[in-house]
Amino acid sequence: MATPILIEDVESHASDWSAIADRIRGSKNVTVLTGAGVSAESGLPTFRACGLWEEYRFEDVATPEAFARDPELVWRFYNYRRAMAMSAQPNDAHRAIAKLESSMTVPFTLITQNVDGLHHAAGSREILELHGNLRRVRCTGCKKTETTEEKLSELPRCECGALLRPDIVWFGEALTAATLLKAQAAAARGGVMLVVGTSAVVHPAAGLIEIGRVRGAFLIEVNPAETEATHLAHAVFRGPASRMVPALVERVTA
Ligand code: OAD
Repeated sequence: MATPILIEDVESHASDWSAIADRIRGSKNVTVLTGAGVSAESGLPTFRACGLWEEYRFEDVATPEAFARDPELVWRFYNYRRAMAMSAQPNDAHRAIAKLESSMTVPFTLITQNVDGLHHAAGSREILELHGNLRRVRCTGCKKTETTEEKLSELPRCECGALLRPDIVWFGEALTAATLLKAQAAAARGGVMLVVGTSAVVHPAAGLIEIGRVRGAFLIEVNPAETEATHLAHAVFRGPASRMVPALVERVTA
């Protein structure tokens, strides 16, 4: 494969910036896939490389087996994450993605692996949340889901008496089929795919990038580090999302 266009700052590479902006403007379809890196500058830790999974073993706090074994420990972890997410504010990258969506006249799909709700807070309208949402709880008995930003007890229960759990996709669990199918359909439309702040190691989310690539998408990655998706990219913005994404969206919407 040809070497991707590599852009490391917003000041230089003017012709590359405008060529990429033109690709987005002229595309018949735009899909954005985000990961924890888009929220890093909102103060939320990522998962790998000095992130949450360095501090906690996911087997202890983010699997159905962990919840069956020690629901209090799992809830302690999720109450901590809920508190962090709810006190965080969207950053310029979230806002730029929302602006891109509202400027689009062709199909636009935002797919996120994040559970923090910050895309919603930034004004994005249609969001496919692959891994659930920290603000939602689900009853393990009657299966009812509810969105709540209130502080929850250490072992919250539903009105029906059964334990509530976070409405999050844990390791070893399947993604919601309808959400995954919509995400795969968007990726399969080709066009342009913008991949922001993900290490691209968790499947099936990472597989969406391959689907896009196979279906001829022009693939743009925004990430300060090299990832599993970098070798698939046509253009790489090597820098923080809050700087690179707004600079790109400004050029697309100018
Ligand atoms: P990771 O923690 O695996 O990767 C975060 C990515 O963000 C890395 O590639 C970083 O280089 C990049 N990054 C860091 N700071 C950034 C910044 N300021 N701007 C842009 N990028 C930045 O997180 P994810 O790829 O999202 O799943 O992880 C995927 C899934 O694994 C998560 O949804 C979660 C986790 O286990 C579940 O919990 C089900």
